[in-house]
Amino acid sequence: MNRTWWKEAVIYQIYPRSFMDSNGDGIGDLNGITSRLDYLKYLGIDVIWLSPVYQSPNDDNGYDISDYQAIMDDFGTMEDFDRLLAEAHKRNIRIVMDLVVNHTSDEHQWFMESRKSKDNAYRDYYIWREGQDAQTPPNNWGSCFGGSAWQYDKETEMYYLHLFSKKQPDLNWDNPKVREEVFTMMKWWCDKGIDGFRMDVISMISKTKEMPDGKVNDLYGDYGPFCMNGPNVHQYLQEMNEKVLSKYDIMTVGETPGVTTELAKQYAGENTHELNMVFQFEHVEEGGKYGKWTDEKAPLTTFKNIMTRWQTELYDKAWNSLFLDNHDQPRAVSRFGDDRPEHRENSAKMLATCLHMMQGTPYIYQGEELGMTNYPFQSPKDFRDIESINAYEEWCASGRVPHEVFWPCIIAKSRDNARTPMQWDDTKHAGFTTGTPWIAVNPNYTEINAKAETNDPNSVFHYYKKLIMLRKQNPIMVYGKYEPLLEESEELFVYTRTLEKEKLLVVCSFSDQAVPFIIPDEFIGMPCLIANIENTYDQREITLRPYEAFVLQIK
Ligand code: GLC
Ligand code: CA
Repeated sequence: MNRTWWKEAVIYQIYPRSFMDSNGDGIGDLNGITSRLDYLKYLGIDVIWLSPVYQSPNDDNGYDISDYQAIMDDFGTMEDFDRLLAEAHKRNIRIVMDLVVNHTSDEHQWFMESRKSKDNAYRDYYIWREGQDAQTPPNNWGSCFGGSAWQYDKETEMYYLHLFSKKQPDLNWDNPKVREEVFTMMKWWCDKGIDGFRMDVISMISKTKEMPDGKVNDLYGDYGPFCMNGPNVHQYLQEMNEKVLSKYDIMTVGETPGVTTELAKQYAGENTHELNMVFQFEHVEEGGKYGKWTDEKAPLTTFKNIMTRWQTELYDKAWNSLFLDNHDQPRAVSRFGDDRPEHRENSAKMLATCLHMMQGTPYIYQGEELGMTNYPFQSPKDFRDIESINAYEEWCASGRVPHEVFWPCIIAKSRDNARTPMQWDDTKHAGFTTGTPWIAVNPNYTEINAKAETNDPNSVFHYYKKLIMLRKQNPIMVYGKYEPLLEESEELFVYTRTLEKEKLLVVCSFSDQAVPFIIPDEFIGMPCLIANIENTYDQREITLRPYEAFVLQIK
C-alpha cells in the first residue's frame, strides 16, 4: 500500500456561514476563519475542507454557484481568500475546496445564456427536454429537495433537469465544452495553490441517454438508477485526472451517493487514476417511512456490518474516508451517541475513538470536536435549510402526515442541526457574532464551547487533540489491517488493527448500561493508548461503564 500525506492527514470541515463572523453581519466569513486558524492548529488538524465560498445567490447556501472564480459577497473578497490560504499554509494547514460541478446556479452566466434560445451557444451546457405540455414534465423524477426534477422554462417551452432545487440546473457533462470549462476552472484554483477538492455529488454527473420514469417510492419516481454512477462517470473522472489532478500534489475526495464498495474500488482505487477517496453513505442512511426523515436508530450490528464491510473490502485496494457527521447530517453525538448531559462527553469521546482508530482519513465536522449537539427545534419557522423547509411543506403542511408524527422525524435529521453557529465561548451568541446570527445558536453554548473545552484537559476537545496526535506517532492507526471481534454484540464495537508485529485492540461501548467484557489473552495487561474513562486492564474480565472506550497496544 502506498504511503501518502492524505492518508495520514486529519481533515476538518468548515461550513463558513456558521464558523466565525468577523464583521458583525451575523454571517460567518473568510476573515473569521483566518482569525481561528490558531485554534485549528492547536487542535492539530492537517487539512481544512472549506464548504463552498464562491459567488452564489444562496438558494442552497453556496451549493448553487453563479461564479466559480469569485468569492461570495457575504464571505469577503478574493484578497481575503488569498490571505486565508497564505496564513493556513504558514501553519502547515492545507485547504481543500468544495467543487460543485454537477450543477450551477440558475444565475450562472452559462445558464442565463442557455435558457435564452434553443440555438444559443450555451444551450447544451445543461440538460433540456421536451415535456408533453407546461404541466407534464418529461418523466416522473422527483428532485432531492422536493417537487419534480424538471422545471418548465417559458422562454423556449422546454424543461431543464435539476436533481436538486430548481435554482440548481444540472450541467450536461456529455458536452466536451462543459468538461473543458470545468477543468480550466479547476486549474485556475490549483495554480492559486489550493490543496485539493471535495467533489460535490460527483457520482451523479453522468446521466443515461434514455430517461425513463423511475420507480415511484412516494410522490415521485426515483432518478437513482439513471443518474447515479452513470455510464460515463469513470471516463470523465479519468479525463479530469489526466488533464488536471495528476498535474498537482493535491488530494481529492468524491461525495458519491449510491456508491458501493465495488464501485469505490474504481473511483478511489490505488491505481485507477480517478479520485483519492470517496464518501460513502450507507452508515448514515437509516431509511424510514418518509424518505430520509425518521427518528429511528439503526441497530448497532447494522452499523458495524457496514463499517466492517468498507474496512475489509477496500483494504489494500482503495482508501476510505471516515466520517459520522457533516453539514448535511445531524450531530454525531446526538445521532450515534447520547446527548443527555450525563453521557454526552463520554459518548462523544467513544465515537471519536471508534472512528479515528479505523483505516481511512478521518473528517471532523466543525463543533464535533466539542461534542456539539442537535438543536432543540420548536417550530418549522426555526428552519433555514431549503431541504427541511420544503420537506415540511411536502409531507406535513400539505396534510399527508400529521405534525406530531412528522416533527420528531424531521428534527432528528434536519441539516440545520449541523448548521447552527460554532460555539466559541459563553458570551452572547456563543462568540460567533456581535450582530444577529443568521441561524439561531444552540442554547447549550453556555456549557458547550471552545473556550471552556480548551481550558479543560478532560474535555472532548482535548480527547480529539490526543487522537490526532496519536495518529502522527502510530502509523498502525493509518496503515494497520482491520479485523472485527464480537460481531454479534448489540452493545460493543470491538476490533483490532495489525501492522507487522504491532497490534491494537479497540473497544467501544455504545450502551448506556454497564457491560461485561473479556479482554483477549494477548492484550491482558498491555499499555493503554487512550481511554475516555479510567480503568485497569490487567485482568481478563472487566466491566465497561456506559459509553466507555479504550485502546490497548501490543508493540
Ligand atoms: C451535496 C452537498 C449538499 C448540497 C447538495 C447539492 O450533497 O453536500 O449540501 O445541498 O450536494 O449541491
Ligand atoms: Ca460576516
